[in-house]
Amino acid sequence: MTTETTGAAAEAADTDQPGRSLLEDPEEMRRSGYRVVDAIVDRWANLGEGPAWRGASRDVTEPLLHGPPPESGQPLEPLLETILQDVMPLAGRIDHPRFLAFIPSSPSWASVLASFLINGFNVFQGTWLESSGPSQIEVTVTDWFREWLGYPRGAGGLFTSGGSAANLIALVAAREAAGNPPSGTVYVSAQTHASAVRAARIAGIDGTRIRHLPVDTAFRIVPAGLRDAVRRDREDGLTPFCVVANAGTTNTGAIDPLAEIAHVADEEGLWHHIDAAYGGFAVLDPETRPLLSGLELGDSVSLDPHKWFFQPYETGCLMVRDVKRLEAAFRMLPEYLQDADWGPEHVNFCDRGLQLTRTFRALRVWLSVQRYGLGAHRREIARAIELAKRTEARIRTEAELELLSPQSLGVVCFRYVGGAAAAPNRLDELNREIQDRIVQSGNAMLSSTRLGRRFSLRFCILNTRTTAADVDLAIDGILRTGRELTV
Ligand SMILES: Cc1ncc(COP(=O)(O)O)c(C=O)c1O
Repeated sequence: MTTETTGAAAEAADTDQPGRSLLEDPEEMRRSGYRVVDAIVDRWANLGEGPAWRGASRDVTEPLLHGPPPESGQPLEPLLETILQDVMPLAGRIDHPRFLAFIPSSPSWASVLASFLINGFNVFQGTWLESSGPSQIEVTVTDWFREWLGYPRGAGGLFTSGGSAANLIALVAAREAAGNPPSGTVYVSAQTHASAVRAARIAGIDGTRIRHLPVDTAFRIVPAGLRDAVRRDREDGLTPFCVVANAGTTNTGAIDPLAEIAHVADEEGLWHHIDAAYGGFAVLDPETRPLLSGLELGDSVSLDPHKWFFQPYETGCLMVRDVKRLEAAFRMLPEYLQDADWGPEHVNFCDRGLQLTRTFRALRVWLSVQRYGLGAHRREIARAIELAKRTEARIRTEAELELLSPQSLGVVCFRYVGGAAAAPNRLDELNREIQDRIVQSGNAMLSSTRLGRRFSLRFCILNTRTTAADVDLAIDGILRTGRELTV
């Protein structure tokens, strides 16, 4: 008999023990966890002091960060330092008080903690069987959203990765509700977010059956234009089945005439989806709520808590007025999930969308609302809108600035037109140059858009840290740079 153990035998012996290779020592877990918490808290404490944006081209990032995977592990501490020094700083600081570009985001601490918890507890939020408590929280939070929207009982929804996924799920539900017609046609605003068009395409609607509806001078869909387009298409043998309206366009914050569109949709038998990914939570502000009237009439509504409800990416949501229509489109019960069928009271969120394996996003919103109260979220939304109004007022007083679209929700669009050398045919180029210089300076992060044929600077204000002084600093920077470039 030999005492020598072969490799295979050694491996077999290992199966009697937990695999140690990927398990950390508890003390190391605490140490590294505290280091991460410290790094986040330090970042938040000094957020306004650094630049609003830093980025680098691939020739800088590749030598710094590209390499083969090591076969053996390394100590965590230096790896965390590399991430904190070389990776994280090369990014937009989207929660910086002067990050006014695109649609910013400023998650609450409670929602960030919830994200950590969700991953640490590895919640599988696809079926009630595997996550009863978490599923109840998602039912509860989507029921809050139902009430905020003014939806009836029988409405429901699910958390998604974001507005794009919510729009896609809505488009598929609409298509299925219409019986998946081969010549199905979809109507979107000329100002729609690209994700709605992409959603239609993924849902099988080719570009020739996606109509971009004209908008009025306030960038809103003209309901009569919708009716005309639908009737024309029907005469041409197509099958109109869905209109996508906006409660806060990305470009200008425009809110389409939702009640009138609902009326046309009703008459014409269209599914009325409202993309409220950006603006939907403004219903919580009593002064703004009337502007969003009609939101409750949509067949479905996309919401993005990671935009104006102070949550980390990826926290999106789709709400559907009759949730049964959503489940009719997505529910599947394969044999390997038969144990998970606890009856309709016990929602299997996998039945409402694309994902079977899902994370527990609803906890972020739940903890945030429990910790700070709904009132705090409401006040922050109202404060951002007030700041946007004040920004518009300041732009109107500055002779060198031209307002291109007035404040709507938190968005204001304008451009620099002052200075002797600001010739009308050079304004696009000049404003692009102003934007570029300001972004490079780190003073503020600005983005631009095109309104009609004009290049426009665009502020989107929603960050809880942004103050009037921050907005003024950004405007002062634009004026100063404009003057430097046009003397
Ligand atoms: C109006 C609107 N809809 C949809 C989206 C897409 O959402 P997400 O980026 O969360 O997928 C956005 C994103 O900015 C948006 O502004």
